[in-house]
Amino acid sequence: SSQPTTSTEGQAIGTVAELDKTGQLLNENSPIGPVLVVGTSKDANLIAVNPTCSHKGCTVAWQAQAKKFVCPCHGAEYGVDGKVQKDPATKPLKTYAAKIEGDSVVVKQ
Ligand code: FES
Repeated sequence: SSQPTTSTEGQAIGTVAELDKTGQLLNENSPIGPVLVVGTSKDANLIAVNPTCSHKGCTVAWQAQAKKFVCPCHGAEYGVDGKVQKDPATKPLKTYAAKIEGDSVVVKQ
């Protein structure tokens, strides 16, 4: 076919250098909406979520020590799988598949 060979399945949301610098990468305006990727290029599996809290929409922060996402607004907590671990949120964070492609961090819906 005449389809270009570039990946059309995923969205590049940032660079590997940005991810490796802090172990996380937040892109609040990606084509698929806000995305927070956690990990580094050394990890076999990257964690990727939409960091918009399901309670009232604040942006959750990754807590590396506790390995969970914590909302600064009313204290909701979510696990790496996006599932709620603490009130007042009742619905999970949306999760994505993420991987490294060349110099880019690519997220799939
Ligand atoms: Fe996140 Fe309320 S907006 S806990």
